Amino acid sequence: MPATVDKTASHTSKNRGEPIIEVTNLVRRFGDRTVLNGVTFKVHRGDTFVIMGGSGCGKSTLLRHIIGSLKPTSGSIKLFGKEITKMEERELGVIRRRFGMLFQSGALLQSLTVGENVALPIIEHSNVKPNIVDLMVKMKLELVGLTGFEHLKPSEISGGMKKRVALARALALDPELLFSDEPTSGLDPVMTAVVDELTVDLTRKLGMTAVVVTHDMTSAFRIATRMVMLGTGDLRGKILAEGTPEEIRRHPNPMLQQFIRGEADGPIPLRLSEGDYLKTLLGEEIDYRK
Ligand SMILES: Nc1ncnc2c1ncn2[C@@H]1O[C@H](COP(=O)(O)OP(=O)(O)OP(=O)(O)O)[C@@H](O)[C@H]1O
Ligand SMILES: [Mg+2]
Repeated sequence: MPATVDKTASHTSKNRGEPIIEVTNLVRRFGDRTVLNGVTFKVHRGDTFVIMGGSGCGKSTLLRHIIGSLKPTSGSIKLFGKEITKMEERELGVIRRRFGMLFQSGALLQSLTVGENVALPIIEHSNVKPNIVDLMVKMKLELVGLTGFEHLKPSEISGGMKKRVALARALALDPELLFSDEPTSGLDPVMTAVVDELTVDLTRKLGMTAVVVTHDMTSAFRIATRMVMLGTGDLRGKILAEGTPEEIRRHPNPMLQQFIRGEADGPIPLRLSEGDYLKTLLGEEIDYRK
């Protein structure tokens, strides 16, 4: 037995479960803007696959393609071995029962209570009796630390609480695959740790697979078994790096290093340089294609 246990050991390229998401050469254009430009990766069963990258680089767009709510310009996406890019809604519905999705905005229905929001996927996708639905809702709210809040409306709870309700809803049907877009943004450090621990428990102990988009590097390194970073500048729409957390920490790419260290100075191109900002204030035109 080695003295220390490497938690990433089973997630190196050699030794992983079967692939349950396979994205190959994914391209997505909006008008003449190419947001995803040949993205290829696989997520294997049991992975906590973290997607990183600057604001606006295409992370949420990538997730929306994987869940089938956007169609790619070209390329292939397989979920559980099935090509979803050409699937019709009815067929997609069957696949969607197997995964939960936490949207970046939370996307709670304002007219429903917290409990009714969490109950929604249970009522929609299963046939269980109301008292069992209530029990399932209570269990999921307990998981995210919100016991007793089921009768409040989304407008009566805080931003961080809304995020946790959205997570409880994504977990309502015990999905084998969870997509989370910024699950910890707006949470305090303690609640972030609670949500991270929940993700780790569900994946490492209960065998769920998770795909998590996050800007929070502490959280990313705490939960990830594999990580990818989407690029900016010349590498816009492409994967700049992929690997285990250790490989990403040691990766030589300076943009990646600047990102994970959260440094203001470095090679990541910013939209407005100081000079450009002054020009904007003075009303002069800037060519953003530069
Ligand atoms: N439906 C759409 N129509 C046109 N452009 C879109 C559409 N959806 C996304 N985009 C563009 O795609 C780019 C990537 O957006 P996306 O929301 O995926 O970024 P992100 O990486 O999730 O950013 P953030 O970290 O700020 O959430 C943006 O420039 C956005 O304007
Ligand atoms: Mg986003």
